[in-house]
Amino acid sequence: MSVIDEVVARTVTAAPRAEPDVRPSREPATARTPRLELSVGTAVSRYLDLASALHGTAIHYAVKANPHPVLLRALAQAGCHFDVASPAEVRAALAAGAPASHLVHSNPVARRDHLREAHDLGVRLFVLDSPGEVAKLADAAPGACVLVRIVTSGSGSDWPLSRKYGCSVEDAVALLLDAARLGLDPAGVSFHVGSQQRDPQAWGPPIRSAARVFGAVRAHGIRPWVLDLGGGFPAELEGGEVPSVSQFGAAIEAHLADAFGEDRPRTLVEPGRGIVGDAGTVVTSVVGVVDRGGVRWVFVDAGVFTGLVETLDEAIRYRLEVPGVGGTSGPCVLAGPTCDSADVLYETTPVSLPLSLAEGDELRIHAAGAYSTCYSTVGFNGFAPLPTVVTS
Ligand SMILES: Cc1ncc(COP(=O)(O)O)c(C=O)c1O
Repeated sequence: MSVIDEVVARTVTAAPRAEPDVRPSREPATARTPRLELSVGTAVSRYLDLASALHGTAIHYAVKANPHPVLLRALAQAGCHFDVASPAEVRAALAAGAPASHLVHSNPVARRDHLREAHDLGVRLFVLDSPGEVAKLADAAPGACVLVRIVTSGSGSDWPLSRKYGCSVEDAVALLLDAARLGLDPAGVSFHVGSQQRDPQAWGPPIRSAARVFGAVRAHGIRPWVLDLGGGFPAELEGGEVPSVSQFGAAIEAHLADAFGEDRPRTLVEPGRGIVGDAGTVVTSVVGVVDRGGVRWVFVDAGVFTGLVETLDEAIRYRLEVPGVGGTSGPCVLAGPTCDSADVLYETTPVSLPLSLAEGDELRIHAAGAYSTCYSTVGFNGFAPLPTVVTS
């Protein structure tokens, strides 16, 4: 039995096969749509691939991508560490079996009571990027280790994360010195190159910036010891083939060697999509097909409010499949089931679907294991949150 099979056998069979489903129905959950089919085995295998491509770097799965308890348990059993951003995520990771020492708290501007709670639960490594947060952390989590998040361009990614968080190299140096003055451990630097990052070279500029921060801080007699390389590893979405995980690993290793030489700090990554994206398929049914002035609109029973929020601005383009429906295909607008006009998945760039597609046909949305179920509304317009069906 392989490592993956073993982990999946232990976790999937020991847990309920689906989250509680709020909808009264006589159909089995596995036949109902919409649903997320989540392959825990695929996620564990992506974790193992990353761990071997980034040998020596700790892999902290970003719980925000998909916090399903069966998934967290399987990853923890396989040796994965976790990236958390709130007390609920800390508790989820601990419940999955991870020790608090395997957690990094990566929310740069957090509630004081949340920081205190995370610290009380044993978390010691915290990310921040502003002076007020250094003082807040020193109060809420005395003696904690600080990673300062530096800004990146986000270029090369489908979902940039460059606006909300991240400071300059100069500010990072000042924040680490502040942290030391306030009795915190100035542990190092963190960054994120943007989600669904397609360019392995994107890690180069922030690694070089981090090395400048380390150099400047060392000149003050402080020895930072860890570099958090963030997430961003891509799933197999539309938009062209993505480089392999070993290409990402090789590029990152080369940039680290270049920037730090022999004086390389400990490293960690925080992948979300790269672990769970390809492990999930949202299974939907066609609700109706409408001709609007010569434009075909296909309505399916999952949409922006039912887990597919990342289609906003058509930033994330999932791979679509309509099993068993053939014939000529043509351009279609793809829309969700609620009455909100924002509930349109792809319109500016329509999708190509068979012209014979009709009510009741199944449409499968691949590489949707990340940022889907957890992005569902609690029931907008009477449409229930997207349920998960765990498969091995
Ligand atoms: C701080 C941080 N770390 C890790 C991640 C996971 O990123 P990804 O899913 O692109 O790997 C995110 C995503 O928003 C993040 O904000």
